[in-house]
Amino acid sequence: MTIVRRASDLIGDTPLLELARTGTGTRLLLKLEQLNPTGSCKVRMAKQMVVEAERDGRLKPGGHIVEPTSGNTGCGLALFALERGYRFTAVVDRHAAREKLRMLSAMGAELVFVDTPSTGGPSSVRRREVAARLAAELGAYHPDQHNNPGNANGYTDLAAELLRQLGAVDVLVAAIGTGGSLCGTVRELRARGARTLSVAVEPMGSIIFGGRPGVYHQTGAGSPEGFPVGSNVDYSLVDRSHRVSDGDAFAGARVVARRTGLLLGGTTGGAIHVALRRLLEHPPGSTVVVLANDAGEKYLDSVYDDDWLRARGVLDELAHRRVERWFTTYAASVRVAAREAWPTPVAVGA
Ligand SMILES: Cc1ncc(COP(=O)(O)O)c(C=O)c1O
Repeated sequence: MTIVRRASDLIGDTPLLELARTGTGTRLLLKLEQLNPTGSCKVRMAKQMVVEAERDGRLKPGGHIVEPTSGNTGCGLALFALERGYRFTAVVDRHAAREKLRMLSAMGAELVFVDTPSTGGPSSVRRREVAARLAAELGAYHPDQHNNPGNANGYTDLAAELLRQLGAVDVLVAAIGTGGSLCGTVRELRARGARTLSVAVEPMGSIIFGGRPGVYHQTGAGSPEGFPVGSNVDYSLVDRSHRVSDGDAFAGARVVARRTGLLLGGTTGGAIHVALRRLLEHPPGSTVVVLANDAGEKYLDSVYDDDWLRARGVLDELAHRRVERWFTTYAASVRVAAREAWPTPVAVGA
């Protein structure tokens, strides 16, 4: 057994779970990033943004970090702040999952709240303004995850792990927000010679790929109207993009919870929905990886709460049945393919 001395030493080397397989030999695998300390992939980029800032003097011993966050980046920064002796202020809103805000407080982060718009959507623009102003006033380090190269750089190890675990990744599907996890991973996969098709999934209502703006309740992914998309969304690294409704995204996560016992976040549910729906579009034998960005335990009061979903009109029974049907259809196609692979027995004496 390996014994580590800091929680941050447990980052990375996350396992893979086969979620589905088709009769054509294509596999849908989940990269279980929620098993990182703090329960999300974002701790990887939080580490890198801190390490790079320490290296070039933007962050000095005893310094202060101020960042707007929907929660996961904040939890990552809170971990490094407590391990390395920094003060950390997270600028948040009430759109964030309650459990994430509680986690931040539990790890000693200071929370500064900005108002949530009357639509109930994220107040990303306001959060960002407040964080930039506060950091300037306090002389604090403001990582600015949307434009900080350390964000995408933080996923170099993730790409290396995937190649070590799988040899090849044909398709990588992930929810997109700042762009760091999908673009950083794909950039490194390709730098190592992989020919990976990259698929970005944003909430319906997010404007990253130019769609019509609207309200969405998937937290962490997407950019609302008026939010300038940052440089970590590298469009040249994204081959396909899809928009997914809250109903479909949450149904994806909830059906997987019932089938596997693993609770995943709503944005991972959206990526799973897209990957499942399109699994047969890839050449036979493809390896399709979905990044499971965070843990569903952070959404017990939202994604996994029927009343919360009903109140927002996003409890979609049909969407649940669709996801179930994909699983049963793919499982049946595996059985059919197995039968076809065996010669039909010929009756003796016929
Ligand atoms: C739950 C969740 N899903 C998806 C994303 C999007 O990841 P990225 O910002 O790397 O594009 C985030 C980012 O915070 C997140 O917290």
